[in-house]
Amino acid sequence: MPLIGFGTHPMRGDEATEAVLTALAAGYRLVDTATRYRNEEAVGAALARTDVPRAELFVTTKMPPDRVGLERRTLEESLTALGTDYVDLWLIHWPPGGYPGVTSWREFRRARDEGLARAIGVSNYPVELIDALHDATGEYPAVNQRQWGPGDYDADFADAHRRRGIVLSAHSPLRSTDLSHPVFAETAGRHGCGVHEVVVAWNLHHGVAVTVKSAHRDRMERNLSAAGVTLSPEEIARINALATG
Ligand SMILES: NC(=O)c1ccc[n+]([C@@H]2O[C@H](COP(=O)([O-])OP(=O)(O)OC[C@H]3O[C@@H](n4cnc5c(N)ncnc54)[C@H](OP(=O)(O)O)[C@@H]3O)[C@@H](O)[C@H]2O)c1
Repeated sequence: MPLIGFGTHPMRGDEATEAVLTALAAGYRLVDTATRYRNEEAVGAALARTDVPRAELFVTTKMPPDRVGLERRTLEESLTALGTDYVDLWLIHWPPGGYPGVTSWREFRRARDEGLARAIGVSNYPVELIDALHDATGEYPAVNQRQWGPGDYDADFADAHRRRGIVLSAHSPLRSTDLSHPVFAETAGRHGCGVHEVVVAWNLHHGVAVTVKSAHRDRMERNLSAAGVTLSPEEIARINALATG
């Protein structure tokens, strides 16, 4: 799973198709969509047009919780819209009704075993609900995607994922961060990069995968270049201290 992925929400139609093509040309290999985004067809149009072979792409989509009981149909609709035989990662978008969604998780495992999804996971789940899925089936999600920026930082939460072998994946890392805090400008100045790259680099330092969206090629490229920014332990500590929880 690429550590920096391209987010497609809230783009739709031609804007989404063009943005995904631009992101792939800029070097992204993970494309993040969802049934709820209503852009899978537009993303699929980009996947059909790109020169990048399907095997080199990592496509994530998500089932909204109101499709409980319709898991298989929902995935088949996603695959048709995306124009692919499988997704690389299929997530339960939120805990259905605030519950773990064990029946959905069983259906997810079945679809994965049949090869329709290479890996399965969840999104916006607290650890207790993840444990409930494991208690019921003996299998943890491969990934938990949730809002995760410096303000959300919670070392215990991240550690709970690490101990269970679950990849923590950040969505909205930039949107959820007060980038006007001086620590970002100071850190960016030292590394000769922008404040947004500092946030992406901070996530990578913690072993957190990042899904980031931009409609602009220069920003897409800068966000991707954060992989080359290595923050010092002092810089990491200062950013960790911005946690509001
Ligand atoms: N699982 C979930 O429940 C969930 C929820 C929300 C999002 N997501 C996924 O995560 C992805 C990213 O989340 P997000 O879109 O909410 O937030 P984000 O990627 O943290 O921030 C996106 C915003 O930041 C701007 N931006 C990006 N890079 C920039 C840069 N280098 N300089 C200046 N501005 C920059 C974008 O503007 P421009 O586009 O104008 O450049 C956009 O307004 C979504 O697209 C979606 O795929 C998942």
